[in-house]
Amino acid sequence: MQTTDKNQFSQGICLAIDSATEVLALACGHIKQDGTLEILAEANAPANRRANVELLCRIDKMLKSVPIQNIAQDNNGEHHGSAAPQKGDGEPLTEDGHLAEDDCLAEGDHLKISDIDAIVVGRGPGSFTGVRIGVAAAKGLACAIGCPLFGVSTLDAIAHKAYASGITSKIAVIDDAMRKEVYPSLYTLKKPDEHLVCRLEPYTVEKPEDTIKRLAQEKKSLLCMGNGLIKYRDIFEEAGYTCADEELWAPTGSGLLYAFAQALKTGEQGSGDAATLLPIYTRLSDAEENERAALKEKAGKIPESGVADYNSGVANYSTNDKNDLKTEFSSNTKSTKPHPLILSIESSCDETAAAILDGNRQVCSSVIASQINFHARFGGVVPEIASRKHIEAIVAVVEKALEQANICYKDLDAIAVTQGPGLVGCLVVGLAFAKSLGFALDLPIIGVNHLEGHLYANLFVDPKIKPPFVALLVSGGHTMLVHVKKWGSYETLGSTLDDAVGEAFDKVAKALKLGYPGGPILSQLAKEGNSKAIHFPRAMLHSGDLSFSLSGLKTSVITYIKKQNDAGIKINLPDLAASFQAAVIDVQVSKALNACNQVDTHLLCLGGGVAANDALREALKTELGKHNIRVLYPKLADCGDNAAMIGAAACDLYKKQQFISLDADPIARMPLD
Ligand code: KG4
Ligand code: ZN
Repeated sequence: MQTTDKNQFSQGICLAIDSATEVLALACGHIKQDGTLEILAEANAPANRRANVELLCRIDKMLKSVPIQNIAQDNNGEHHGSAAPQKGDGEPLTEDGHLAEDDCLAEGDHLKISDIDAIVVGRGPGSFTGVRIGVAAAKGLACAIGCPLFGVSTLDAIAHKAYASGITSKIAVIDDAMRKEVYPSLYTLKKPDEHLVCRLEPYTVEKPEDTIKRLAQEKKSLLCMGNGLIKYRDIFEEAGYTCADEELWAPTGSGLLYAFAQALKTGEQGSGDAATLLPIYTRLSDAEENERAALKEKAGKIPESGVADYNSGVANYSTNDKNDLKTEFSSNTKSTKPHPLILSIESSCDETAAAILDGNRQVCSSVIASQINFHARFGGVVPEIASRKHIEAIVAVVEKALEQANICYKDLDAIAVTQGPGLVGCLVVGLAFAKSLGFALDLPIIGVNHLEGHLYANLFVDPKIKPPFVALLVSGGHTMLVHVKKWGSYETLGSTLDDAVGEAFDKVAKALKLGYPGGPILSQLAKEGNSKAIHFPRAMLHSGDLSFSLSGLKTSVITYIKKQNDAGIKINLPDLAASFQAAVIDVQVSKALNACNQVDTHLLCLGGGVAANDALREALKTELGKHNIRVLYPKLADCGDNAAMIGAAACDLYKKQQFISLDADPIARMPLD
């Protein structure tokens, strides 16, 4: 996305956020025409892994403590001015997760989120998930407000706070990088009139013992700070280093603002573009580190290293237009589509997706950024890579969905987001972003169960289907038969005791080195094969209940592959794929039929990535058809993860006014029942 005017900033009210460490750092400040900074309010509090839960509630409370009457008019006629700095604020939340309202001013007397002119976010280095929560939330706020987003380093923020506290010696910021390592960074702090905090080295991650050795020459002149000292103070002091007061160890909201004010002066503030701002990572994901180590062993040299090259890969965007859509973006025309207009966001696994649905549950736009190419070489989804890709793609995907629906943020009536089940580090990106949109646009937020989304995808095929019926949900993470009593009222009749169906396809394909995801590859091969060529077990076919087990089948296929390989016999891949697939399908069909009989229904709806399997669709249709049971499945393009299905489920939740609050967290194992 190119830099536009909306990304420019020189003066105004800034909101600063940092959640890279255990301390949730917030501040609100005024950067004046001459570049000077006045801190209006500051709130730094231990968050103890609750950053996503507490962030927006704390921002809300902090803003409510800033009196607007003190804010003078700037010469551009806007609200800017000064308020008395508020005291640091680390009060705990009340039991129900909300903040005590004692310090809040009356409505109309305090600063509002829409008064903010720029957002500043700590980019780390720090806890990967922690940083992503802050960055995702900051992106959501900036998009909703329509203001620029700037990043500063969390370590720089600590250095700037030290400088503001009057320290002028050379300092070493040593933050905890976990795994017995630290993020060390050296700074010179010039005399106050020169106002320059200067970082002397690039970001690194290393063992504290190595930092101690590396900086030994300068230890006498260095003052150490940073949360790495919580663990390593003793060894630094024993080695002759001096540690600063503990109150200087953590990042602060004001430190972030000081760092930003300096960057503005030196022109190093960055583009202001919320879409392209990324966390500072100092390590690759473990999967990539292992890959590099393996390559090094093979090639005898270290492959080109560095974190930056990881970021050069941009997610593939594939749009999935349901209607003949205009791509013109108009922010002035009020949308004529029936309300409520709901923006839905999906980020539970390896697709970043956004969609707009209107009041008739019509899909106005649906955009999916698939990450499959980035995971394929690892034979499965790498959670850390997936989380990073969500952060990279989320703004572009959401704004493309708005653009294709020809609406803007202001036209929306609600924000829906997948709350679970899924990978928690992935879910939290979508959720933090969605909650920020809801907060800043003052819209309700709808938390949707991903599986319910897969189920609702059937409504795009037949909007008239009515419960009760049975749903067979089959994906990379789930295999379950569900009694849909009413929309929103579900009873799980049976599920897998071990692997999910999609997982079994993926693992067999991996064992055959065929690539990822395995489902589409194996089902394609199976078309040419003989399904009776090899007999594989049909686990629990006659168990009498509606549970599944797929790990035995997977093991049996893998054992077969090994035996053939050991004997030097070439495997007939189509026959193997067809035989494996038939074993899976036989059990699925039999259990689906039993489930329909058990609850006495004549409708089975299919959902999830594996619902794209032609042979499964056909077998269900044929066999259940013999018993007068209608089998419905989503269009091929709607079987995989997408946001339109999340929007479809959200339409009903909106009607029921079933919303989530600003402190909602992802639920990795969110149940359907
Ligand atoms: O629903 P989904 O996109 O993501 C999850 O929520 O898991 O499902 C992905 C899964 C993968 O395991 C993939 O191999 C499987 O769906 N899949 C298939 C087919 N297409 C995708 N499995 C069997 N046959 C297919 N044609
Ligand atoms: Zn799914």
